[in-house]
Order: sequence, then C-alpha cells, then structure tokens
Amino acid sequence: MKIVIAGGTGFLGEPLVRRLTAGGHDVAVLSRDPAKVRAGRGVAWDGRSQGAWSAEVAKAEVVINLAGENIGEGRWTADRKRRLINSRLHATNAIVEALQKNDKHPTFVSASAIGYYGPHGDEILAEDSPRGSGFLAELVEQWEDAARKAESITRLVLPRFGVVLARSGGALGQMLLPFRFGVGGPIGSGKQWMSWVDRDDVLRAVSWLIERESAHGVYNVTAPDPARNRDFVRALGRALHRPAIMPAPAFALKIAFGEMAEEILLTGQRVVPKRLLAEGFTFESTDLDATLRRILS
Ligand SMILES: NC(=O)c1ccc[n+]([C@@H]2O[C@H](COP(=O)([O-])OP(=O)(O)OC[C@H]3O[C@@H](n4cnc5c(N)ncnc54)[C@H](OP(=O)(O)O)[C@@H]3O)[C@@H](O)[C@H]2O)c1
Repeated sequence: MKIVIAGGTGFLGEPLVRRLTAGGHDVAVLSRDPAKVRAGRGVAWDGRSQGAWSAEVAKAEVVINLAGENIGEGRWTADRKRRLINSRLHATNAIVEALQKNDKHPTFVSASAIGYYGPHGDEILAEDSPRGSGFLAELVEQWEDAARKAESITRLVLPRFGVVLARSGGALGQMLLPFRFGVGGPIGSGKQWMSWVDRDDVLRAVSWLIERESAHGVYNVTAPDPARNRDFVRALGRALHRPAIMPAPAFALKIAFGEMAEEILLTGQRVVPKRLLAEGFTFESTDLDATLRRILS
C-alpha cells in the first residue's frame, strides 16, 4: 500500500514507519526537515501550506497524521500553548485540504490523545465519555474536529493514545532518571490514574485499524488495566531494582511546570480501550510488571 505519514520522525512515527516498510508498504514521510528522515521516503512540507507533498496524498491509500509539537516537554507558557494548538490544527487542516482536492478516498488516521477526557477521579472512561475540562481537553477536541472535516470523504480513524511506554523517549524516558539515581517515587498523592500502553501495542493497534475496513471513529489506545501512579512507580522500581519511595511533591511540580503539572502529572484518567477489545484487537502487553521488566531489560 502507499502510505503517507506526517510526524513520521517522532517517538511513535519512526517505529511505525519501520513497521510499515518492513510489511512491504511504500511509506512517504512528510517532515519539515526531510534530511533527518531515517525510515521511509522523506518528503518536505511545512506543516501548514499546500505544496509538492500533496501529490503524495493524491496517490495514497492511507494517510496518517502524527504531527504536532510535543505536549509533555516543559512548561506551557502562553507562547507554547499557541504552538501546541497551531502545530496540530495547521497540520491537520493542510492534510484535510489535500484530501479534499482528490477524487481518491484513502483511509485517514489522525492521532488524538486521552487528554480529551481531562483530569478525572476513579470513574472508568470509554470512547463515549464526554470531553473533560482544561487546556488539553479543549485542544484535543479542536484537533479531532479539524480531522472530522474529512469524515465525509475518507474512512476516518481517531486513535486516542494513552501514556505510551518505550525504552527511551516518551513519558517513561522522562521518569527514568530519578529512579536511576535512587530518588524515584510517586508524583503528588500518587492516586491519579495512568492509562499506560506499550508502544509495540500502539504500533500493532494502528496497523490493525488500517487493515480493518470496518474500523472508523474514535478508539482509545490504552492497555486494558490502567494503574494508579503509586502502583505504576512501584512496578517501575521493581523493574529497575531501585527504591520508589521518594515522592515528588505537588507544590514543587506546580512551581516547576505550572498548568502542565496540574493537567498531566498530578492528575490523570482511568481510560479503557472498550472499542478495540469489543472489535477483537488483542493487546500483547496487559500486565504492567511484565511490560516494564521487558521494556527495561
Ligand atoms: N507519545 C505519547 O505518549 C502520546 C500520547 C498521546 C498522544 N500522542 C500524540 O501522538 C502524536 C505523535 O506523538 P509522538 O510522541 O510521536 O510525538 P513527537 O515525538 O513529539 O513527534 C511529533 C512529530 O510532529 C512533527 N512536528 C513537531 N512540531 C511540529 C510543528 N510545529 N509543525 C508540524 N509538525 C511538527 C515532528 O516531525 P518533523 O520534525 O519531522 O516535521 C515530529 O516528528 C502527537 O501528536 C502526540 O501529541 C502521543
């Protein structure tokens, strides 16, 4: 298949491109810096306006959108918030515009996030749960709405990714350093839920959603059993053979990271992949201890 992927150089994108090319697909990677593309064919775009890249979209059977500035890196200043929103809306709008110019109707997989549900307590959240409150929830809604403009001309799939775990990079990459120095522990109260998912399962789920012609709409891409932060860090301590008793105090995180700490570190949500399970997808990593041991071995 001919596949176009925006954001194919990132933490999720690059391994996804490797998986798709290993499966025999022809993958064009839209990048602001095609020279850095290490998997797939690099194609230049600026993430906002039409250009030669839209000819790739015209030929594609599948278009995947993972582009956007990193949400978990550092404080959300007013300027960063603008860039977090604009990078997603401009990239998604540009892809939708390219899709609308064609007669061909490819599958369109546009990344989303469980941040849609906003900070929550113990209630279980599935795809039909309402949008939550906060900056991230509003951003995700705008991002999904931009992709939905292609709903009438494509098979639109909106995977809401959870906290994706891999050996380096992502949330786990950021959590490892204090543990390696023996000062890891729960974040704030540790009661908040973390809807984690192994990156390999994310790649398998995206491939499965592409191949399954009947799949459309929103899918939570999280492991079936989310964990509270305190249980997650205990499992991480066991996997690393390091203590996990040094709490990161809420006030210090609020000072260091402001609103970002309140929305993604000190709070969370208990999300389940109701649709993936109901439609027959099988997660390989369902046990947190075993997953962390394998990832970190
Ligand atoms: N990782 C997670 O745990 C997680 C969880 C939930 C949702 N998500 C979402 O899934 C998507 C992929 O995640 P990821 O972790 O792979 O992200 P990532 O590593 O930060 O990569 C995102 C990609 O977006 C492109 N990009 C960055 N800034 C851009 C801008 N201003 N304009 C256009 N493109 C830009 C970059 O490609 P070039 O530099 O090549 O242009 C980069 O490769 C993101 O939208 C993210 O929000 C991720």
